[in-house]
Amino acid sequence: MSGGTGSNWLCDNARAGMELEVLPPAGRFTPERLEGDLVLFAGGSGITPLLSILKSVLFAGSGNVTLCYANRDEQSVIFAAELDELRARFAPRLSVVHWLESKRGLPDAAALRELVDHAPATECFACGPEPFMLAARTAMADRGLARDRIHLERFTSLSGNPFAGSDTLPHGDRARTALVEVELEGRTRELCWPQGARLLDVLRAAGLNAPSSCGEGVCAACECRVVAGEVRMVDNRVLEADDLEQGYMLACQAVPVTDVVRISYA
Ligand code: FES
Repeated sequence: MSGGTGSNWLCDNARAGMELEVLPPAGRFTPERLEGDLVLFAGGSGITPLLSILKSVLFAGSGNVTLCYANRDEQSVIFAAELDELRARFAPRLSVVHWLESKRGLPDAAALRELVDHAPATECFACGPEPFMLAARTAMADRGLARDRIHLERFTSLSGNPFAGSDTLPHGDRARTALVEVELEGRTRELCWPQGARLLDVLRAAGLNAPSSCGEGVCAACECRVVAGEVRMVDNRVLEADDLEQGYMLACQAVPVTDVVRISYA
């Protein structure tokens, strides 16, 4: 991928027999349990994470899955043959509804709702272009599904290498520092947190193995909870209002507001 950090590094450096240390899957785009009934909205290549969820439920769980899959035209449908096989094998637990833009134009919330109006739904997942995901969210919210049961997955290209400079001391106003108490991996540590510095940088500089991935506020791999005090996020493109109400925040984007902050990764 042109300009890609991981893909270019792999092409230039990876050799047969090499051992690589990789991060585990991160983020929050996963069903609470595989016994629930899911409604999935996929737009184009947004099918990729949804196909994994769909297969997990069908093979390892007992829930029903309704997939609403929107594409430009018939030739654009990725995994069409695999979905047909899964449908034949798992009917009636799996139903797949296709929407082709070439025949029906772009779907709005009312159209999406009509497609899945009677589908059993304890959770909903959507991945695709932003307007499509927002229409899907409106459709399911109008149907009465609570907002915290509707999950959106955004694909974005990173603007830089998220691991560059990860071990350097964080920038910030060292004359004004907050005190942060961090509970991570069963241990509690107290650290100085310079005003303006991002929490993730502070943790890395202290040698703590805090989870992270994009470093740009889009993946939620660095999600943790503010237990006391207050922080501000420089950017946030993944947490919803109800997440913030519960104290969740992104360590890669958090700077201190109060002099004392307590953070938990538990
Ligand atoms: S590391 Fe991705 S949002 Fe913080």
